[in-house]
Amino acid sequence: MIVLTRRRFLGHAARVLATAAAWADGFPLDVLRAGAGRVHAAPLQTKPRFDRSPFTLGIASGDPTDDGMVLWTRLAPDPLTPTGGMPDEAVRVVWEVAEDEHFARIVARANTEASPLRAHAVHVEVDGLRPARPYWYRFRAGTWESPAGRTRTAPEPTADIDRVRLAFASCQHWEHGYYTAHRHLAREDLDAVFFLGDYIYEYAPADNPVRPVIGPEPTTLDGYRQRYAQYKTDPDLQSAHAAFPFIVTWDDHEVENDYANDVSQDDDPREPFLRRRAAAYQAYFEHMPLRPVRRPRGPDMPLYRSLPYGRLVDFSVLDTRQYRTPKPCGGRQSTLCDGARAPGTTILGERQREWLFDHLAASPARWHVLAQQVMMARLDLVAGPPEEFSMDKWTAYQRDAQAVLDFFGTGKASNPIVLSGDIHTNWACDLHARPEDPASTIVGAEFVGTSISSGRDGIEISARNQAILPDNPHVKFHNGQRGYARCTISRERWTTDYRVVPFVSRPGASIETRASLVVENGRPGVHRA
Ligand SMILES: [Fe+2]
Repeated sequence: MIVLTRRRFLGHAARVLATAAAWADGFPLDVLRAGAGRVHAAPLQTKPRFDRSPFTLGIASGDPTDDGMVLWTRLAPDPLTPTGGMPDEAVRVVWEVAEDEHFARIVARANTEASPLRAHAVHVEVDGLRPARPYWYRFRAGTWESPAGRTRTAPEPTADIDRVRLAFASCQHWEHGYYTAHRHLAREDLDAVFFLGDYIYEYAPADNPVRPVIGPEPTTLDGYRQRYAQYKTDPDLQSAHAAFPFIVTWDDHEVENDYANDVSQDDDPREPFLRRRAAAYQAYFEHMPLRPVRRPRGPDMPLYRSLPYGRLVDFSVLDTRQYRTPKPCGGRQSTLCDGARAPGTTILGERQREWLFDHLAASPARWHVLAQQVMMARLDLVAGPPEEFSMDKWTAYQRDAQAVLDFFGTGKASNPIVLSGDIHTNWACDLHARPEDPASTIVGAEFVGTSISSGRDGIEISARNQAILPDNPHVKFHNGQRGYARCTISRERWTTDYRVVPFVSRPGASIETRASLVVENGRPGVHRA
């Protein structure tokens, strides 16, 4: 994608001044055609006509660096139909980035193409911006202008910054409730938001939904596109995207419940399941603010990556679904069988595990964050003996889980913090060098975040979870309400505030901080603030 950076922009100043009025008048910016996207085989509509706004799915930004980010939108004037109401033609989209919310100081502007091959989604990479400051962006197609979004560049990797603020969230089952937590999240003061998976749920329509989902269980590209489109129409979700850059990874429901690499939950034949996975990954890419380098190729999509925030925090975003071996010990809740300890098993895959340890060892950051899907701390699910664990989590993949804990124990990556989602409840845990021995050294901390809506209205604690807390002494906090987690990172302290809403079965819930947990620099382990 060719981008008009600030430096190049100055050279174009006169022409841009001339086109500022053109933008206001609704004309495409023909003088900047040199900056347009690649020529597409389909005819390009340079002046598309829409009888209603094509920006029904909102806008988004993501994966910030110190000089830019990716900007996203998808044109869909009729979002719930297979084509989104778009013609089978590429359409010109104009985008611009400004230093102020009134777009008085525009620093980048160019054309790109929304292609029917990608559901008329655009993924614009912007560079040449200044570090650690807000920017505003918007799109235009035909005579329609998108809502404006606010985003933020990361600090320079070598910058000695004092503070990073983020939120992490996951699991937004449409049928289970309203996204009130997103509405509150949008009002926070954050550098970025991490979404840790279950952005959609693939299930067929349920009985008695809080709000109905349309279409059957998706298995095709059209089906997944429709499911994403419906989710993306939510105004609270749109407001969260419009407020902060998102850094996303997936869990299982973006494809199918509990899938493991090429193995579906029902052991479908491999080839049809990989075709389904390819469709699901394609639709995921089309609807997320991910850089073009993440684009899937067939059933493969390179999602794991790292993002530095100055010398303060380094984020490793992981993918524990695409490369894992099948779940051991029968696949569900079980005592640990030999299969969980077998040498060939992996939750990361060989390449990702090697990349992770190499990356962590080379990173000079003070805090090292693993932003990923499933719980790493062991969680004994049975009160009293015997111990039983979910075979979908790290504990079922002993080799990788122990390798990560051993690496944390070496001190090569200072202050490791694991962020997780998946289980629709809040858990703050110490990570022990030997998880089976609560007296062993604490080598890290894990914060598991609850769901935005999955599980319907939450409760403080279920009888079942109350009963297992004595079996899990490394758990320092637990709560079963809906919401998100807000984290404030300084040089000396990591603070996680668990933000919860009392209900999601109707709109309008207020939010409160249910608990604040702290990790001190150089002292692994979680305690109450
Ligand atoms: Fe979930």
